Amino acid sequence: MFSNNKLCQLLGIEYPVIQGGMIWCSGWRLASAVSKNGGLGVLGAGSMTGEFLKEQIAKVRQETEKPFGVNVPLLFSKAEECMEICLSERVPVLVTSAGSPAAWTGRAHELGIKVGHVVANTKFAQKAEAAGVDFIVCEGVEAGGHNGLDEITTLVLTQLLAGTTSLPLVSAGGYMGGRGLAAAIALGADGIQMGSRFACSVESSASDVFKAHLLKVGTIGTVLTSHGWGPTRVVRNTFSDQLQALERSGASVEEQREHIGTGRSRRGMMEGDLEHGELEIGQIAGTFTEVMNVHSIMEKLVANYTDSVRRLEATLL
Ligand SMILES: Cc1cc2nc3c(=O)[nH]c(=O)nc-3n(C[C@H](O)[C@H](O)[C@H](O)COP(=O)(O)O)c2cc1C
Repeated sequence: MFSNNKLCQLLGIEYPVIQGGMIWCSGWRLASAVSKNGGLGVLGAGSMTGEFLKEQIAKVRQETEKPFGVNVPLLFSKAEECMEICLSERVPVLVTSAGSPAAWTGRAHELGIKVGHVVANTKFAQKAEAAGVDFIVCEGVEAGGHNGLDEITTLVLTQLLAGTTSLPLVSAGGYMGGRGLAAAIALGADGIQMGSRFACSVESSASDVFKAHLLKVGTIGTVLTSHGWGPTRVVRNTFSDQLQALERSGASVEEQREHIGTGRSRRGMMEGDLEHGELEIGQIAGTFTEVMNVHSIMEKLVANYTDSVRRLEATLL
């Protein structure tokens, strides 16, 4: 079906769908399930120690021989340790974010590792391309978790980059299935990265309490906190209300950081503290009606993609 697709050819996958690396959500169960079902499953190293990451890589390899990736947010305190493990383990794909991939791409390529980098504006896309990455993930402000300072939407960012990058382009932020994939390809992207839909899957390692809560979020249930220094899309709750009130009152970044403290995201997404934890999720969560397994997500995605393409074809008749 996607034999001519640049992203599928580059990564050796059946469908041009990457499961975004996600703290507390994307361990070996989710990553291996996505890879087994034809996408690229990605371990989220941003909430792992190096040793734990190594075990997770081994577990994915026990489950499947298909390609998989590891996401490392480069500003994370254990980034260097995790990157070294990815290199020594020769993981098939690295997806870096939040920082510059320049120092790593050369060594990764020598080992045959493909590198993608997540960007949220055109300037960082150009820098990533100059750093020698193999593909670009452009993530709009609809997306769950940490977003770019410029707060550009997926729709605009994808069109901006589709015209300027020569690399395979992956559009991220606001996708939950095949209609979105067809739209992204129509905009000029080669594939999509989905995070929230997979965070709310059976195989996600997040708390069941968090997953069940996502079904009640609704379309206006997420907010963007920390404008100007670290925009983050989360489910609205007591924690985010307090953080936004601080922001409105003109509190300094230090004061806002102090309110966030440490361990907030673990408390929310792993431990299921729905009021005082940080619950990262994208706007698309408003469309979720059930916690689906990965097989069903991918099966429905392919069926909806086919329907969407037929609808588009019909407009030419
Ligand atoms: C719970 C959660 C945690 C995330 N953690 C990370 C992370 O550790 N590193 C990263 O690069 N992106 C992270 N993201 C972003 C995803 O990888 C992905 O790009 C994004 O979710 C796509 O938008 P969507 O949420 O609309 O699907 C996270 C997203 C969510 C929902």
